Amino acid sequence: MPEQFDLADHDDAIDLAVDLLARATHAVVLAGAGMSKESGIRTFRGEGGLWTEHGEPPLNQYDGFRDDPKRWWERRLEQQRSPDSGFGAALDEAAPNAGHVALVELERIGAVAHVISQNIDDLHRRAGQISITEIHGNRYWLRCISCERRWPRQEYLIDEAALPPTCDHCSGIIKSDTVMFGEPILPTSLRRSGYETAQADLFMTIGTSALVYPAAQYPIEALQHGLPLIEINLEPTPLTELATVTIPGPSGQVLPALVELVRKRLPNRVISKNDQPN
Ligand code: APR
Repeated sequence: MPEQFDLADHDDAIDLAVDLLARATHAVVLAGAGMSKESGIRTFRGEGGLWTEHGEPPLNQYDGFRDDPKRWWERRLEQQRSPDSGFGAALDEAAPNAGHVALVELERIGAVAHVISQNIDDLHRRAGQISITEIHGNRYWLRCISCERRWPRQEYLIDEAALPPTCDHCSGIIKSDTVMFGEPILPTSLRRSGYETAQADLFMTIGTSALVYPAAQYPIEALQHGLPLIEINLEPTPLTELATVTIPGPSGQVLPALVELVRKRLPNRVISKNDQPN
């Protein structure tokens, strides 16, 4: 857990971020693994990151799946049977933290219009986020790689005698909804993320090293459109020099503080919404 972050040391940055959020009409967020760190899930890069320790995984993960999906499913079902004390267990046990809750509140008071999340942990949705694109998928869902039909993992009975599971609509092969290394991002996710970024008048990145594309492209596009950029991240990233304001603190502490101050600026604004275009 990051040591206590003293907001008082960052008054000016906080004030500027509050002003930008209060005046924005369509703020878009790119969220990353750092947002789930305070829920007990390791990040990938930077201090204590999974890839920092083990190295980045090979980019041919998806090719491996396509070459032998039956073998991939056999291995996955074996893994699910064996006790896991690592990353998988942390994901299973995690719950939304104060940062997730605050981001939902920023949406509710109309200060944030859409969240593009790189996290597969479902914590944004569990916190109540409504307008969201999970650009790397969601680990609690399965997906047909041909027609993109999705099923809640818990509701889909895997017949171990007929692997790989196939889609009852198009006979396509079914895999986890999470996007593997080397797997193309879903066109629907790219379209939505691009649409929201094009509508944006403010961009905010939270807990992401901003190194993985195409997700990292959206804050760059926002900067190219001349938009202000707020970065909330513990360690410097390629965006830090370009950002209008950077708050180098834990999102679970910074976001609740921002909510309180933004709410004072938007006393009567409550936006009830359901998710718009696809
Ligand atoms: N609050 C804010 N930022 C934090 C916190 C925290 N509590 N803890 C860590 N961070 C910062 C780290 O300093 C780091 O810069 O969050 C960032 C996390 O970066 P990554 O681990 O690279 O995560 P992310 O950017 O989401 O990775 C993108 O890479 O491995 C793939 O598919 C995976 O979706 C992931 C993608």
